[in-house]
This record gives sequence, structure tokens and C-alpha cells, in this order.
Amino acid sequence: MASLPEKVRQQFDFGPYPRIPIDSDPCPETQLLFRHNWVTPYYLHYHHVANPATATILDAGCGTGYRTLALALANPGAQVFGVDLSERSVALARSRLDYHGRRDVQVHALDIQDLPTLGLQFDYINCDDTLYLFQDPAAGLTLLKRVLKPGGIIRANLHSALQREAAYRGQAVFRQLGLFNENPETDAVETVQSLIGGLKPWVNLKRQTWKPQFAQADATADILMNYLFQGDQGYTIPQMFAALDAADLQFIRMVNWQQWRLPDLFDQLPPPLHQRLMELPQSQQLQLFELMHPVHRLLDFWCVNAQVNAPTSAVAQWDALTWAKQWSQVSVYLHPQLRTKIFRQACLNSWRTHKPLILTAHLDPGVNTPVALDSRVAIILLMLVDTSPQPLLNLIKRSMDLFPRDPDTLETVTPEAVLAELKHVLVALEAGVFVMFETRSFDS
Ligand SMILES: C[S@@+](CC[C@H](N)C(=O)[O-])C[C@H]1O[C@@H](n2cnc3c(N)ncnc32)[C@H](O)[C@@H]1O
Repeated sequence: MASLPEKVRQQFDFGPYPRIPIDSDPCPETQLLFRHNWVTPYYLHYHHVANPATATILDAGCGTGYRTLALALANPGAQVFGVDLSERSVALARSRLDYHGRRDVQVHALDIQDLPTLGLQFDYINCDDTLYLFQDPAAGLTLLKRVLKPGGIIRANLHSALQREAAYRGQAVFRQLGLFNENPETDAVETVQSLIGGLKPWVNLKRQTWKPQFAQADATADILMNYLFQGDQGYTIPQMFAALDAADLQFIRMVNWQQWRLPDLFDQLPPPLHQRLMELPQSQQLQLFELMHPVHRLLDFWCVNAQVNAPTSAVAQWDALTWAKQWSQVSVYLHPQLRTKIFRQACLNSWRTHKPLILTAHLDPGVNTPVALDSRVAIILLMLVDTSPQPLLNLIKRSMDLFPRDPDTLETVTPEAVLAELKHVLVALEAGVFVMFETRSFDS
């Protein structure tokens, strides 16, 4: 019988993933681009705004290259590489990248085990929907770490054992029926379609796992990825942290961190209990979230070499006193994904129509509700689309030029009042990484 990596390779040669048409353009997918942006996790960890054009990026387990293309688009100027076990997937990735005119992105048929043969070290490694296929995810992370630059960042994810509990029951059914023993065959896919499709609608396995599109002739990838997935294993939050510890990697944040907030699960919570939950370490908060609400298929995280420390002081952590003393040294960056002609036009439209600008239509960090920007703020941010960073002082000046008088008293506004108002808005925007702060000199 074939070894597990060989079965995985055969599976993806038979059913390459993802089955997204070659001509599909990831550009309108603002959340996908955000998830593939290196600048974001770099800022979250180092509180420094990196230049993607300096980065070497790897897509480990790139499949048919849709997300490799997203990595290249989200990180303009970066050198992007992709590797995958499955030659057929790599051939499709190559066609996709060629179709989109991205001959600069190299893809190779290579096992993650053999990455050192590329002779490269990476600033950012994206390992999407692949790590859970390793028998031991800590070993998988260690293999990636071998080609990570000392300060480099890994984005990887594991399947959630809790969220996919029913899918694993489905896999157990087909393992018992012997469908996992052989190479994936069309027959096996059809057997799954007949068996699950034929269940009564109220049967739990069907109710929890089946979607109408799985019955169609082109549902091979969906059937393989759910009911016949070779090597697929589920993990819990404590197991994710144990794998990071074993690989000597430090957790940065969940990639969709805004969807993992424990307080969001409550209608009401007495303040002492709220405080008690908020004082728990992040790993425990995430574990409690998942135990109460296992809705995320992926435990999707960013991590960094545990031996590399982040700077201790960040503008985002300043108290009121530090702000009062040091605000004049703050530079404000617009997230690079917002520095587009379309966003510029949206700022102007918002101003001209007096309608709020829906920020999350342009950059979506995975928020549960859209983030809207007041048209007065939108027109101030416009200057950051053209030139970023800008000293906070410039934004204050722009605000005073545009809105010189207090609408209530009609007296001239003071820089202090403008600072207080702008700081409030910018700090909230920084929490969603729509803007970023630094204290280095803006022309350095
Ligand atoms: C579910 S697909 C994900 C593809 C892609 N990352 C995405 O998210 O669109 C998993 C991919 O990982 C690849 N893979 C699994 N184990 C691997 C290994 N040890 N080395 C390289 N690629 C591997 C498979 O061939 C498959 O294409």
C-alpha cells in the first residue's frame, strides 16, 4: 500500500485543489488579499510597516496556484515562489500564473521536506490548507522553519476537530467501506455521492455534511476534500499551541482574529465575569471560544520564530500621557491594500455625496459587521492614498484647513481639539489595521 505522502500526492494529482477556473481574478476578493498580505502580520508583531518589494515569499503546498496568485497581488514587488507535491497541481498553477502574466512567480513540484534544495530563505511562508496533512504538525512547522529567515513569519492552519467533527465521521464511514485503501477513483467519488445522497434528509451525517452541489458530476474536489480526504486530521486549540511550542514558534494572532472574540459570544456578561475572561491568556480565550462556538473550519494563525522578540513599545499601546508627550512623532500609514485609485475615488464620492464610506468593501480583515467611515474622515484619509506615511501633524493641518470652525460655536478649532478627535478615530482604525502607526521619522 502507498505511504501517506504518496497517497496525498495521488489524491491531488487526481483532484487538484482548488478547482477555481484559471481566468478567475482574485483582485475583487478583498478578504483573500488581506489574508495573504505580509505587511499585516509583520506590523502586528514588529509594529513596523514593511515594504513588500523587499520580501521573498513562499506558498508551501500551493495547489493550483489561486492563492499563490493572491500572494503575488497582495505583496507587489515581492519575489513569490510556490511548491507542491502534486505535479498536476503545479502544472495548473503554472498555467494560471502565465494566464495572469505572472511569469515572475516560480512554482516547483517539490515536497516541503525538500525545500532546502531551493537554496532560499523566506520572509513569509504561507502554508494554507496543507499543515493538517502532516502526521505531526509540529514536524511540518519545523520543516517550514528550516527555510524561514530568522525574523520571518509563517501563516499556517489546521483543520478544527470540533468544527469538522461530522466530516470526520463521514470519513470513518468510507474508511470502513475500504474507500481509503486505493488510489482515489471516480468509482469511490460516485459511491460517496450514492451513499450520502441516498440518506434520508434527517439523518445527522447528511444534515451536517451534505450540500446540494455535492450531487453534481463536477463535485469531485468537494467529495475528496470532505469524505475521502487522505491524511486529513482535526486539531484543537491546545493542540495547535502544543505544535507551536514543539517547533519553537511564537503565536502572533489568528488570521481572522476579529471572528474569535470571546465577548462577541455574549448578549450580556456581568463585568466581573467579563474581566475574568479577558484576563485569561489568549490561548485559553481561543479555546473557550471554540468550545462554545466551533464555527471556524480552520485554526488559521500567524507565528514567528520564538527566539526573535518584538519591540516592547508600540504607539497602539501608548497611554494618554505618552500620547500627550509624543504625538508629534507619530507617522500614519494607510494599509497598502487601500492605496488604490478605486479607494481614492471612494473617498471623494463619500465626501461629495455626504455618505459614509464602507471601508470593509476595500479591505476586509474578516469583520462580522461592515466598518463605515464618516465622509469627513474619508476626505482626510485621501491624503494618505497619495502619500503614505504622513506625520500625524499633516493630518491635523488638513483637518483644520477643511473644517476650520467648530460647527456649534463657530469659533476657530484648536489643534488640541482636532488631535483629540482624530486620535480617537485613528486608534479605532489601527485596531483593524486599516491604518498603521510608527514613530520613526516619516522621511527616513
Ligand atoms: C488542500 S490543498 C491546498 C492548496 C492551496 N494551498 C490552497 O489553499 O488553495 C493541499 C495541497 O498541499 C499539497 N501538499 C500536501 N503535502 C505536501 C508536502 N509534503 N509538500 C508539498 N505539498 C504538499 C497537496 O498536493 C495539495 O495540493
